[in-house]
Amino acid sequence: MAEFLLKSDIAEIAQRLGEASRDFSGKTVLLTGGRGFLGRYFMDVFAYLNEHVLEQPCRLVALDNLITAGKEGAEVPDLPNVTFVNHDVIEPFQWEGPLHYVIHAAGIASPFYYRAYPLETLEVAVRGTRNMLELAQCHQARFTFFSSSEIYGDPDPKHVPTQESYRGNVSAQGPRACYDESKRVGETLCYIFHEKHGTATNTIRPFNVFGPGMQETDYRVLPNFANRIKASQPLNIYGSGNQTRTFCYITDAMVGFLLVILRGVPGEPYNIGNPKPEISMLELVKRIESVLGRKVAHNIIEYPDSYPADEPNRRCPDIRKARLQLKFEPSVDLNEGLRRFLTWADKVYTGEA
Ligand SMILES: NC(=O)c1ccc[n+]([C@@H]2O[C@H](COP(=O)([O-])OP(=O)(O)OC[C@H]3O[C@@H](n4cnc5c(N)ncnc54)[C@H](O)[C@@H]3O)[C@@H](O)[C@H]2O)c1
Repeated sequence: MAEFLLKSDIAEIAQRLGEASRDFSGKTVLLTGGRGFLGRYFMDVFAYLNEHVLEQPCRLVALDNLITAGKEGAEVPDLPNVTFVNHDVIEPFQWEGPLHYVIHAAGIASPFYYRAYPLETLEVAVRGTRNMLELAQCHQARFTFFSSSEIYGDPDPKHVPTQESYRGNVSAQGPRACYDESKRVGETLCYIFHEKHGTATNTIRPFNVFGPGMQETDYRVLPNFANRIKASQPLNIYGSGNQTRTFCYITDAMVGFLLVILRGVPGEPYNIGNPKPEISMLELVKRIESVLGRKVAHNIIEYPDSYPADEPNRRCPDIRKARLQLKFEPSVDLNEGLRRFLTWADKVYTGEA
């Protein structure tokens, strides 16, 4: 059986976090979306810190209603000091013990799924965020909301790379609005709790994170491509193929997320991603070919009905704020990240999604 997440990646995250991680010693952390792609990394990183780094264990309470967690997410490992609760965060959650950090990562993140579950997508980011903020306020815990780079919508090219201060070009209507607009409201809720109640809130705007552990049925671009490669089928590129993205390998992203959770300036949003390179989907196929050392057949096709139209033309983060304030520095280049992900997917994926 192949490893589901790479042990070497978990150790790399803990080692790169260094002394900062000791703040978690003896603390209690509530994590929502604990069985999603990022949530499973958090669970494994906390388990690793407890075993190898912290003097006093950190207790992790992970919530998830498993709506998009897939079969890997539903298999909850039995880890010391980690408690899993099957809970829908649209409902309030009662917690009587101490609580020091709330990480709200529950969400419906894949465009395929938010097309299928628009109301659930909206509510987890609005009602779910409010419920978790109230819990953080009541316990005076630090609160981190996983927003998205999608809050920038389709940015004016003058604002690419995009700074946190850019206000966005987002539609309140259409198939992407349930995700983009609800993340914007989630950020507004954080702002209100910070201003009105003094809650130490941060928002994180991740830019296309990828790596081992992405479900075969996730339907974001890289798992889609890896699945088609495994099935020896041509890759499908939607639209023109000229739309650009940046891709941040999971170990870089997790270090950035944890630095925000531990050291973010209260009230502030942070872009977390890897600004280099900003590449088109056609160039991404070329990168994959260079990593695999062979040609990969691909087709340029119309957007399927299952995929929300109006995708942004460009996406690239300006990460100077996280660099300056948190010493965040991505260090895994795209080819190396693709090599780790594709090698893993080749062992784990079935090619049947
Ligand atoms: N991974 C990325 O590149 C990326 C980019 C931008 C934003 N984000 C945001 O980061 C967060 C985590 O992303 P991910 O990639 O792990 O997503 P994911 O879809 O893999 O995991 C999200 C988890 O949240 C759970 N969930 C959804 N609604 C819930 C509810 N009402 N109650 C409890 N659990 C619920 C799902 O079952 C799933 O396990 C999400 O909020 C996402 O919007 C991620």
